[in-house]
Amino acid sequence: MKRAFSGIQPTNILHIGNYLGAIKNWVELQNDYACIFCVVDQHALTVKQDPKEFSQNILNVAKTYLAFGIDPNRSIIFRQSDVPEHTELAWYFNTITKIAELERMTQFKDKAVRHKDNINLGLFDYPVLMAADILLYDAELVPVGEDQFQHVELTRTIAERFNKLFGKTFVMPEPLVKKHGARIMGLDDPKKKMSKSAASPANYISLLDKPDVATKKIMRAVTDSGAEIKFSADRPAISNLLTIYSLLGNLEIKDIEKQYAGAGYAEFKTGLAKVVNNFLIEFQNKFLKIKDEEVKEILADGAAKAGALARKKIIDVRKKLGL
Ligand code: TRP
Repeated sequence: MKRAFSGIQPTNILHIGNYLGAIKNWVELQNDYACIFCVVDQHALTVKQDPKEFSQNILNVAKTYLAFGIDPNRSIIFRQSDVPEHTELAWYFNTITKIAELERMTQFKDKAVRHKDNINLGLFDYPVLMAADILLYDAELVPVGEDQFQHVELTRTIAERFNKLFGKTFVMPEPLVKKHGARIMGLDDPKKKMSKSAASPANYISLLDKPDVATKKIMRAVTDSGAEIKFSADRPAISNLLTIYSLLGNLEIKDIEKQYAGAGYAEFKTGLAKVVNNFLIEFQNKFLKIKDEEVKEILADGAAKAGALARKKIIDVRKKLGL
């Protein structure tokens, strides 16, 4: 079976955009690929973390994977920092990656603007560590959001360069992006991706939002001019809400449009809130039942499995480098 690799940073509690844009697709991918899902905690350290909260956030991301149906018997679930070969490989890649290549990364440029007081070397080097994550496991498929395309492209460049310099070592990965739902936009600004680092929590629906909080956020979500409940490229707000409705409610957008033909935004949003809350309640029931101890055991088991693969690869890499 071909291998797929992906990861999420434990920077905060996850939101419905993380589910619809990533984890939902991962669950299905388990049928066709040998999947490795990582909690990329070392990536998260490139922005400031409170150590106490950070430990819990790491466990919570793993719990979120499990609650949505990532199956530890079929897929490997582990944390990046448990397998030191990631940072070792990143170091070797550092020596063949050009500063100019990293300077082109739009995520770095964005983050440098948002974290002006903490433009650290790790933030700059972030894409190289990501390349190590992927290439360490010979992953052929990398399910990611559109915003990670450039990083996967750089990963391919690094793989190709290493192979050319030292002989065939790494498999070329391909990004996998689901068009529909790959980008859930902010509720308060439908021109930007839903993000946990947004200025206001009104931007996103956290997976742990209480139903009354989620309802309020939906009722206050910005809308476009014109009253029709209709999907269209020039109406980003209603189109985003319809996408969320469709994906969480398992309904076709055109059927939702039909259901709300002639209705106003208030009625539509009330319906959407119901769908979102059913989804949240079901998720939270599962999430809250998973004990910390249980998830720690699963992560330890995952680290042993991922570690075995990583060690084999790194031995080959060291040999190729003459180490
Ligand atoms: N950079 C990714 C993101 O922010 C997270 C990530 C780190 C990742 N390493 C990865 C995703 C490897 C896919 C594969 O979404």
